[in-house]
Amino acid sequence: MTSPATSPATPWDLPAGFSWGTATAAYQIEGAVDEDGRGPSVWDTFCAEPGRIRDGHTGAVACDHYHRWAEDVDLMAGLGVDAYRFSIAWPRVQPDGRGRPNPAGLDFYDRLVDALIARGITPTPTLFHWDLPQALEDDGGWLARDTATRFADYAGHVADRLGDRVRTWITLNEPFIHMAWGYALGVHAPGHALLLDALPAAHHQLLGHGLAARLLREAGAERILVSNNLTPVTAASESEADRAAAAAYDTLHNRLFTDPLLLGRYPDLAAYGHDRDALPFVEPGDLDLIGGSLTGLGVNYYNPTVIAAAEPDAALPFTTVEITGVPRTAFDWPVVPEGLTTLLTGLGARYGDALPPIWITENGCSTAEGRDDPERIAFLDGHIAAVAAAGKAGIDVRGYYVWSLLDNFEWAEGYSQRFGLIHVDFATGTRTPRASYHWLRERIGAGRPG
Ligand code: NOJ
Repeated sequence: MTSPATSPATPWDLPAGFSWGTATAAYQIEGAVDEDGRGPSVWDTFCAEPGRIRDGHTGAVACDHYHRWAEDVDLMAGLGVDAYRFSIAWPRVQPDGRGRPNPAGLDFYDRLVDALIARGITPTPTLFHWDLPQALEDDGGWLARDTATRFADYAGHVADRLGDRVRTWITLNEPFIHMAWGYALGVHAPGHALLLDALPAAHHQLLGHGLAARLLREAGAERILVSNNLTPVTAASESEADRAAAAAYDTLHNRLFTDPLLLGRYPDLAAYGHDRDALPFVEPGDLDLIGGSLTGLGVNYYNPTVIAAAEPDAALPFTTVEITGVPRTAFDWPVVPEGLTTLLTGLGARYGDALPPIWITENGCSTAEGRDDPERIAFLDGHIAAVAAAGKAGIDVRGYYVWSLLDNFEWAEGYSQRFGLIHVDFATGTRTPRASYHWLRERIGAGRPG
């Protein structure tokens, strides 16, 4: 196991100018849910419903980043990263999801952006990381086409305020997970368990992205990304049934979003009973807006997936098979660094020239609470090496963001999963960098010229 005291300071073999960052999201770190005019989001509502979140936790205080943001920027500067991926809370900017923006909400991000730039850290905001204003959910949320229009309107207000300093934008975070867990399975806000009837939530997120991307381009954006959770999928056996199930799962998890974004068309959805050319929620012109709108692809990678065929009468045509014989994170997720190389080279093979440069916009693991976290060091070391291997195989990867800067509110798991390079004492808010923070600082520093 690598330890900070003994690891040689050899940088990974990554291209010059490779960017290092950390990532967070508004509802997971900010707290201050009632301050400065912020409106309620679907996550405030969901957390208030008994039984939804482990131990009844909520994001009401979280890491109190809303008040401690300057300390957090100092910690990032101390780490030596050159980029920070954070998300903007839509309900701070438009408390009801529509209409004139709330200046105090925008002020918070304005100050944050200035402080980051002053420290040489490039701000990389995500516009939607799952905290939809509750008022829009009351009107149908992402199942309603109008939410896409509302999203573009919100994006325009943020771009008006920050677009003179922000050059790279991430419109959506993990639209697949948001659709699957929030609308199909109901384990995340807004808590709908619609199974395949959740598909309009996929299209309307994509449409919102397409409309927002048009505005961001007009506002001078240099890079526009969607960060999606992607996973390399393999079949549990060579049987035709398992291979068909794996292809169906790959379609839903990986291709449902990436194909329209990069190729301007939906993948074959026959396994889900749909004709991709006659999806009832797709209107003429939508795919023209969505296709070709990315100038970078954000990849969030955590683990690979093994799939087998489901029982004949099951609601979905696949079932996941546990991966054994590898280390596991505190979350019990399998640790398979080479899966990231497979994923990235697979994207190259699938999309060819249509694949834009890639940023790993999330990668990391949860560990036990302690400050000594050799498992996180080994995880990051292995996965960054896997990125370097993909680079050697010809994939253009430009940067890597660790999930996460801080221990934070892990959605339905509350505060039970600790993903931070920095430990947070949630009773006091005290931040303590873990061993992995010091290790990463050394490694990043060793890669810098001079
Ligand atoms: C992906 C999500 O974007 C982020 O919010 C979450 O905390 C991490 N994965 C870990 O589950």
